[in-house]
Amino acid sequence: MASPLILLTLFLLPLVQSQTPTAPAPSPTGPINLTNILITGGQFTSFLRLLNETQVLTQLPNQLNNSNQGMTLFAPTDNAFMNLPSGTLNNLSPDKKVKLVLYHVLPKFYSMDDLVTVSNPVQTQAGSEHGSLGLNFSGRANQVNVSTGVVETQINNALRKDFPLAVYVVDKVLLPLEFTEAPAPEGASTPPKGKGATAPSSPTADAGGDGSSPGTNGGGKRVDMGVGLVGGVIGLFCMVFL
Ligand SMILES: *[C@@H]1O[C@H](CO)[C@@H](O)[C@H](O)[C@H]1NC(C)=O
Ligand SMILES: *[C@@H]1O[C@H](CO)[C@@H](O)[C@H](O)[C@H]1NC(C)=O
Ligand SMILES: *[C@@H]1O[C@H](CO)[C@@H](O)[C@H](O)[C@H]1NC(C)=O
Ligand SMILES: *[C@@H]1O[C@H](CO)[C@@H](O)[C@H](O)[C@H]1NC(C)=O
Ligand SMILES: *[C@@H]1O[C@H](CO)[C@@H](O)[C@H](O)[C@H]1NC(C)=O
Repeated sequence: MASPLILLTLFLLPLVQSQTPTAPAPSPTGPINLTNILITGGQFTSFLRLLNETQVLTQLPNQLNNSNQGMTLFAPTDNAFMNLPSGTLNNLSPDKKVKLVLYHVLPKFYSMDDLVTVSNPVQTQAGSEHGSLGLNFSGRANQVNVSTGVVETQINNALRKDFPLAVYVVDKVLLPLEFTEAPAPEGASTPPKGKGATAPSSPTADAGGDGSSPGTNGGGKRVDMGVGLVGGVIGLFCMVFL
């Protein structure tokens, strides 16, 4: 009776293996939670607040859903906001705040490689009307700069890099040229209240990789099914064998 058992084991082994949870494929079309992406990024409190305040946070997922081109978002760190000349945000009208946020959005998905070869200037969501408010890109793979004409900075990390949404970290707020051409803001009349008490001495960049952690597990059920199947096969095998 020993050898049939061994045979049985040998026979079943591959079957058991094939039934263990095959890495659950993260559905590429699953809902994208931008809030979650930015929270997970750990240093985007100010940007998140601005996105929320301007309602872009709620509009963007809808636009994304209705687009077959995807989108690209540049997310300035909290440091980037802290390094703005004081009062910059508070001196912006609500409309201009929206414009500023949309200037960080490209209505198309660009991989890092795409950005190297894209033809300048690239239209942003802020400038669909007159063709101003574009961004320029230069560099080579993994070393891409973005320029507004007044601000240039390197894109050095991606919070998310899979179609349909790319989210790149920038350590400067992308101020449009036309914002600085406007007459100088009158004094610091309003007390700065935009910046929360949270000045995270956060890990400098490098959360590395894309934020898309493949949803873990869901394998439990499959294991059960596997066991059931194995049991059935054992029965069958024994019947045949005897
Ligand atoms: C997105 O993620 C945030 C933070 O993790 C959560 O509070 C929110 O409910 C999520 N929204 C959706 C639509 O799942
Ligand atoms: C967005 O702002 C509303 C209030 O204006 C607040 O209740 C909500 O928690 C904010 N959401 C995020 C993700 O910051
Ligand atoms: C996305 O669009 C599809 C139809 O195109 C719709 O069924 C779905 O509810 C939309 N999802 C969101 C989150 O808007
Ligand atoms: C962007 O690039 C275009 C084409 O090379 C150039 O004409 C334009 O001046 C540049 N704009 C900025 C803001 O650098
Ligand atoms: C990218 O921008 C940085 C400044 O942030 C500059 O020092 C560097 O030379 C630029 N690189 C390229 C390839 O333009």
